[in-house]
Amino acid sequence: MDFHSALTLSSQLLDCDLYRDKNLSVHLIRSDQIHRQVSGNKWFKLKYSLLNAQRQDYQQVISFGGAYSNHIHALAYACKNLALPVIGFIRGQWSEDNQTLQDARRWGMQLKSLSREQYREKTSAQFLAQLSAEYPHSLIIPEGGSSIDALRGVAELMGLIESAVPKIDTLVAACGTGGTLAGLISAAQQTGSILGIPVLKGAGFLEDDINGLLERAGLDAGCDWRLDLDGHYGGYGKAKATHLQEMQVIESLHKVQLEPVYTAKMWRRFDELVSDDYFKPGSVVALLHSGGLQGRRGFKLAQMNSR
Ligand SMILES: Cc1ncc(COP(=O)(O)O)c(C=O)c1O
Repeated sequence: MDFHSALTLSSQLLDCDLYRDKNLSVHLIRSDQIHRQVSGNKWFKLKYSLLNAQRQDYQQVISFGGAYSNHIHALAYACKNLALPVIGFIRGQWSEDNQTLQDARRWGMQLKSLSREQYREKTSAQFLAQLSAEYPHSLIIPEGGSSIDALRGVAELMGLIESAVPKIDTLVAACGTGGTLAGLISAAQQTGSILGIPVLKGAGFLEDDINGLLERAGLDAGCDWRLDLDGHYGGYGKAKATHLQEMQVIESLHKVQLEPVYTAKMWRRFDELVSDDYFKPGSVVALLHSGGLQGRRGFKLAQMNSR
């Protein structure tokens, strides 16, 4: 992988009765295809943090995530390729069968467990000061990779999206920490509005987080944006059997793979909003496939496929 390589983004026009009935042009932005391991938003979120770590000769990179984290997985692979030592602080205990962490370890990431209580402290000044004292000259990347540098990388993603589908009325993207949405918002030029679908329950706080990221980066919103808080389907990482079934229906209808935690929730909620006439007839809508397909492995796919 080479962060300096020129990228192109493909898009696919989706065809189904629902979108046809509602007279919508719906495009799927295939950022999942950018790289097998560092896929979707991860490529863009990590790019400038890691180039910076290399340029500034940091001794190591440190970051945080859950046991199935797409961020941890992509970070481990990217650091291996850039020859950057990396430590992943993982929330809670994990099983030795966990394939996400097996990959990360195989690629050279040192894994350390943080109790759920400690993990909650990961952004506090005291915790970060302790970490810096214990691991001097380390680049500490926040959970999900949502640093200020991430916005610069995601701004490049927005440029590629607008080249792939000019004049989008609404761009729809899944939100975890909000870093991706902040980067997209900051760089929108020809896009009417951006709709973020948080996958966490009660994620109204993300509005402040996103505004805070934009402010810290000294960036303004390039378009209108809002969050829809009804696409969590039970909360972060929760995927009931009905959710997995819905995901499978979408996958087979549109011949695409999703993962249950982010992209499947975004798409499910999008379809509900389409049914509820949220989008004006004639609109051009783009759905961001933000990758993370490695995360499918945390769910019982055989069961899903047999339904
Ligand atoms: C596949 C995928 N899509 C979307 C997101 C949400 O990104 P963000 O945390 O920047 O909101 C994530 C989380 O990192 C993810 O793994």
